[in-house]
Amino acid sequence: MSFKDKIIKEKLPNHLAIIMDGNGRWAKMRGEHRIIGHQNGVEAVKQTVEGAAELGISYLTLYAFSTENWNRPKDEVMGLMSLLVEAIENETPTLMKNNVRLQAIGDLGSLPEEVRAKLNGTISTTASNSGLTLVLALSYSSRWEIVNAVKNIAGEIAKGELSPDQISNAVFENHLTTKGIPDPELLIRTSGENRISNFLLWQIAYSELYFTELFWPDFTKEELYKALLNYQNRERRFGKTSEQLNDN
Ligand code: FPP
Repeated sequence: MSFKDKIIKEKLPNHLAIIMDGNGRWAKMRGEHRIIGHQNGVEAVKQTVEGAAELGISYLTLYAFSTENWNRPKDEVMGLMSLLVEAIENETPTLMKNNVRLQAIGDLGSLPEEVRAKLNGTISTTASNSGLTLVLALSYSSRWEIVNAVKNIAGEIAKGELSPDQISNAVFENHLTTKGIPDPELLIRTSGENRISNFLLWQIAYSELYFTELFWPDFTKEELYKALLNYQNRERRFGKTSEQLNDN
């Protein structure tokens, strides 16, 4: 029996976010170059997107490239950018077939022109799809995003378009790159590292965190179901007591 059979459809997260980690170590264990780990990571991405779309999850955000990743060796950065272009190109028909809409968050202006063009092309092509929204975090870091939001808010105040006492959670969220995307209920990180690494810091205020020892290329649909089942067995209290939740 698959873990899938135990999943309660009504209790799925609306938004699942994943820190895909461990590609490099996966490759090293096999005596391969790190890029081989990333290539195999693409296979895990495909499985996860398909699994989330089949289950009817609304949003899936994948941490594909962080602001800090620009500091990696040049050949690895270039390899990752090529993989992205290739994956977006090869997978666009599958995204269309599965009714998946592509979006991206992060400092997209800093991406190489070719990546930006491919990304924008597929974002436009898939814009009317109504199934899963796949959000790629590219050149993303939460501190960058928050500072960027503060700059934009300060600019609006300077122009007299906004006053400081109008700033609320909702106003702040509207200045994040995740504007319009609900907060994730569940965040998964692979590879045994129990860290958040500058990912969606504002948005995960109440998210459930799930850590697995598996390296990202070993993450499968079955592992996705396992994480979702674990999430479904948790009680989310949002600062309330168990009794208050049960009374409602
Ligand atoms: C972390 O492993 C992974 C990344 C920095 C990149 C993730 C990219 C992919 C899975 C491929 C392309 C993505 C898409 C969406 C098509 P790591 O290199 O930090 O591993 P390590 O911690 O073992 O060194």
